Amino acid sequence: MGTYDYLVIGSGIAGLYVSLLAQQRGRVLLVTKASLEDCNTRFAQGGIAAALAADDSPDFHLRDTLNAGAGLCDVEAVRILTGEGPRRIRDLIEFGVPFDRANGSLALTREAAHSRRRILHAGGDATGASIESTLSGLARQATRIDIGEHHFVTEIILERGRARGIQTIAGDTGAVHTFEGRHLILATGGAGRLYAQTTNPPVATGDGIALAYHAGAAIADLEFFQFHPTALCLPGVPRFLISEAVRGEGGLLVDQRGRRFILDHDPRAELAPRDVVARAILLETERQGTEHVYLDVTHLSAGFFERRFPTIYRCCRDQGIDPTTEPIPVTPAAHYFMGGVRTNAWGETTVPGLYAVGEVACTGVHGANRLASNSLLEVLVFGHRIVERTTMGQDEVMPPCVHPEDHVIASPVLAPNGKTSSKTSGKTTDRTTGNPTPDHQGLASLQTLMWSLAGIRRSGEALDLARAKIAQLRQAMPRPIDRETHEYDNLLTQAQLTVEAALIRQESRGAHYRTDFPEVSPTWQRRIVFLSDASTPAPVGAPREEPRC
Ligand code: SIN
Repeated sequence: MGTYDYLVIGSGIAGLYVSLLAQQRGRVLLVTKASLEDCNTRFAQGGIAAALAADDSPDFHLRDTLNAGAGLCDVEAVRILTGEGPRRIRDLIEFGVPFDRANGSLALTREAAHSRRRILHAGGDATGASIESTLSGLARQATRIDIGEHHFVTEIILERGRARGIQTIAGDTGAVHTFEGRHLILATGGAGRLYAQTTNPPVATGDGIALAYHAGAAIADLEFFQFHPTALCLPGVPRFLISEAVRGEGGLLVDQRGRRFILDHDPRAELAPRDVVARAILLETERQGTEHVYLDVTHLSAGFFERRFPTIYRCCRDQGIDPTTEPIPVTPAAHYFMGGVRTNAWGETTVPGLYAVGEVACTGVHGANRLASNSLLEVLVFGHRIVERTTMGQDEVMPPCVHPEDHVIASPVLAPNGKTSSKTSGKTTDRTTGNPTPDHQGLASLQTLMWSLAGIRRSGEALDLARAKIAQLRQAMPRPIDRETHEYDNLLTQAQLTVEAALIRQESRGAHYRTDFPEVSPTWQRRIVFLSDASTPAPVGAPREEPRC
């Protein structure tokens, strides 16, 4: 068993950035289930939001973030995000990330629901790829960072309630390893593969949520999944993201006849919040009996699109579409998970020694709907705070993760299959027995049912059906033994939790839209938090004693 100061799980911007900061304080093991460069960050196009322009301020950025979050943002967390954001951007520039410049200054673009131009980008629309390659290059050179590629984490090992290590299985041999660490940081990213239509790569399987849930950590906001309005829609082609920055630079949404339908739905038009635009597109496609609408950029000045969006241009051309002369077929797709492992403002979870950062975390900055390009900024700000926190005394009084006004539910749904809670000891469970087979059909069924029953629009009836179907899939699920079956198991866990939370939230708010409860309800201006700890059960919906971080 290897022993480290920091165990970091995940190799997107969150895992890399935290590892690079943490190695200044101790020995780091960065574990990732694929190769170091195989992550969701690579696909981020738009950029990073920060109040850097002369006409901007952290307060304006705060206001836009709170507006997008539809009443559920943690205001203090947003204040930290927008206030500390500009400093963290400077850190990233010092790491060598080559942000695009215009007239000698950082180039800033606009995206939906931002009142100012404040989105930094790199390589035009290759912001994520540029950050990823800069940081992964540094991590590979760092002598105090060990990198464990192709290690899938199957369990968080607890000792007297504290996170002490991880168990992994090696992708090539299936060998089981354990690693110990003083600080365990989950940076595993999102769960877009829950849905049949997603902009996320295959690695986005909600692993961190499931791991943390089974370790007893509070998880929250699971009903809030953001659907990006514009993914490329061509038969047999993955849903490639067509950045919101394309609309920010003047791209127009039109129907099959070339009519700009979006004005019928919202006066903010193409730059209305994502949930509004995604629902409008869905409705339009249903009305017209089509699969997609179009994003038209043919009116932009000659040469601009190719220069500003080289990745999108190349991808479209590869698929036989020239965006400069014909509109791009687009449809909404699952993009970003606002929910996650609940943390306080220092990235701590309710399990001592366990931190979460990035899409796997729920810091509260996104509320019910994330403001575009706030996610990469969130990683920098709260990743930095996690490493700071690890250097403070353990007696320091920290803010709580769970608040008195939260709607806390103990052990809501799961009948674990092959998962046993390891709350009471550091021993691991032998899961190598059984007769598992990868279940591709099960996964496809899960993704299809989540898309049609728990997607952009939901209803109590549809969610009940989803719950029953997921339970059937869970029943048929073999005991997981390898990466593929563990990923499917984790997605089933995430699906169960998302559907439960969506059933409980009987209102529409941000990205969560219930056709049977289409209005915002003041009763539900609070967070739904799940705790898997069966040792201190509380009746559903009853307030619990507030866990401390
Ligand atoms: C985009 O480029 O549209 C994605 C940006 C984001 O999701 O923050």
